[in-house]
Amino acid sequence: MKNLLEIKSLNTYYGESHILRDVDLNVQTGEMVCLIGRNGVGKTTLLKSLIGLLRQKKGDIYLIGENINRKAPHQRARKGMAYVPQGREIIPYLSVEENLMLGMESLPGGLSKNKKIDPFIYDLFPILKDFLQRKGGDLSGGQQQQLAIARALLGKPKLLLLDEPTEGIQPNIVLDIENAINQIIKDTGIGVLLVEQHLHFVRQANRYYAMQRGGIVASGNTSELSQAVIDKFLSV
Ligand SMILES: Nc1ncnc2c1ncn2[C@@H]1O[C@H](COP(=O)(O)OP(=O)(O)O)[C@@H](O)[C@H]1O
Ligand SMILES: [Mg+2]
Repeated sequence: MKNLLEIKSLNTYYGESHILRDVDLNVQTGEMVCLIGRNGVGKTTLLKSLIGLLRQKKGDIYLIGENINRKAPHQRARKGMAYVPQGREIIPYLSVEENLMLGMESLPGGLSKNKKIDPFIYDLFPILKDFLQRKGGDLSGGQQQQLAIARALLGKPKLLLLDEPTEGIQPNIVLDIENAINQIIKDTGIGVLLVEQHLHFVRQANRYYAMQRGGIVASGNTSELSQAVIDKFLSV
């Protein structure tokens, strides 16, 4: 069976500073995989390397068996990778509806062929339907995060990359987001690579990888997540 995502010996630098060190990681179709680790260890750097905003110095990235090392971010998006950056970067002065439309740009034919927002998104995040005409910037932090995830899903990705989607968000919306991610995996069989600090959300994942100083130092099934691993990699 082909891996949905396979990373081999990835090394990424910012100028002279060596951040990612020989990272090996894989995600299968239908799987939720969580990347854990303290602040500053390189989790965001890994996701940016995967979507192509940063280029690795060494190593390989395969999406559904194809090497995508040389592909630009928009090409990776077309091939089925979606990325929700840390800090929910929605466009504040556009309406919710316009923000959602932007998610359809990576579909075949782009926005000229795709003019209707697929309503499955309102089953996942009902609040977006009520707020379609509001400005993105007028939503609460949790609602903006839901909007950012919905926008990514409208590109019909095969692999969704989520960078700390529940950071700074009210607990009830954290649960809504967890449920939506579980639901979309169940309904569509996509794979999800999640960077997360909330233990409850981490436990929803099938497997975890723990990062320290840019390297993967532990991994396994989240059902076997030990207190030692939690204390070492999740407590801030
Ligand atoms: N644009 C940048 N230029 C230089 N160093 C950076 C830049 N962004 C992040 N770093 C450094 O790279 C390391 C990893 O950062 P990051 O991937 O954001 O960590 P995490 O997401 O795990 O908190 C940190 O030491 C950080 O200071
Ligand atoms: Mg980060």
